[in-house]
Amino acid sequence: MTERFRFALNPYRQEPLPAALVPPPAEEALGFHRSLPGYRATPLLSLPALARDLGLGALWIKDEGQRFGLGAFKALGASWAIHRWMREHVAGAPATFATATDGNHGRAVAWTARTLGQKAVVFVPRQTAPARIAAIRGEGAEVVVVDGSYDDAVRRAAAESAERGWQVISDTAYPGYTEIPRFIMDGYETLFAEAAAQLGAAGARQPTAVLLQAGVGGLAGAGVAFYSRRPGAPRPRIASVEPTDADCLLESITSPAGEVRQGRGSQRSIMAGLNCGIPSLAAWPLLRAGLDLFLAVDDGYAEEAMRRLASGRGGDPRLVAGESGAAGLAGLLALCGEAALAQACAALGLGPGSRVLLVNTEGATDPEGYRRIVGAAPDRVEATC
Ligand SMILES: Cc1ncc(COP(=O)(O)O)c(C=O)c1O
Repeated sequence: MTERFRFALNPYRQEPLPAALVPPPAEEALGFHRSLPGYRATPLLSLPALARDLGLGALWIKDEGQRFGLGAFKALGASWAIHRWMREHVAGAPATFATATDGNHGRAVAWTARTLGQKAVVFVPRQTAPARIAAIRGEGAEVVVVDGSYDDAVRRAAAESAERGWQVISDTAYPGYTEIPRFIMDGYETLFAEAAAQLGAAGARQPTAVLLQAGVGGLAGAGVAFYSRRPGAPRPRIASVEPTDADCLLESITSPAGEVRQGRGSQRSIMAGLNCGIPSLAAWPLLRAGLDLFLAVDDGYAEEAMRRLASGRGGDPRLVAGESGAAGLAGLLALCGEAALAQACAALGLGPGSRVLLVNTEGATDPEGYRRIVGAAPDRVEATC
């Protein structure tokens, strides 16, 4: 039988986080995003019925499926990184941006390039869903299907870019390439800043626990950075949630010295955005010092989470969450439902006094897969919101 979940507490956690690890506040990125056409803060939804079912005090989910009409949070990173790069390097000269992606980041790079009148070439692994490829092409980018994994696509994008003089806009950092992935993480912080402001405006208290789905760890690293900079407020407990089939953060934290390691899985999870083989070097030091829990769950939990979010059960708002989008809730369902995860639950302080924040990082970016899992087309779910 395949493993349904796996976890590790973090033996390297530091409180407070060493200042040298924490990047400067990303307020400039937030101001930049606000200036973009089509910007609006994505909704932050309260799910009181689900919170009750799981024995939590409160549960909030930030719906990034609605970000810039692109179906995922990724444009926060790509747009800011490309803006920073253009500002420092070319000031308007023509450029070609290249990247590797499981779908969402590539679409975000393509969208940004098109908006700026520049070119994009996007490398995708063989198993990428046709709808995700079509969405990237729809933004005017050239798509190259690589006969291999996401990591193979990362290597191919780097090699071809070096040969052809393209600028790589990768969301993962590797030896010799760290600056742009750092900008991308700065860009992701916008969603946490919005959530903090939305909770404040609703008169709600800030979260005590945050579960963040992870591929290479950029989003989770941005969360750690954001919440470690809140003077006077205790840092919430933070967990990464990965597929058991692509568990590079979990493998890294459990390696002998807690160093970056290749994941164990075959990277065939339905949580396609999380199918990554190795953590980002830009994110890892933050995750190693800042996460409370590393959790991996199998696809069954993601499917259950997608259905629950679509159901509106108990009067909660309905939400269209794609496979990777629902992964934070997938982790939470496992934590709250499995006796064997009691220690992991305790590490996050989950219980009636806890306030949990999740991020729906994508909508139905593969509508066919969504229909198969949820039993309804995404527009049918939205129509009943
Ligand atoms: C929908 C979605 N959620 C989460 C992630 C994970 O982000 P990261 O790779 O920065 O950990 C991705 C990455 O592509 C994604 O597409």
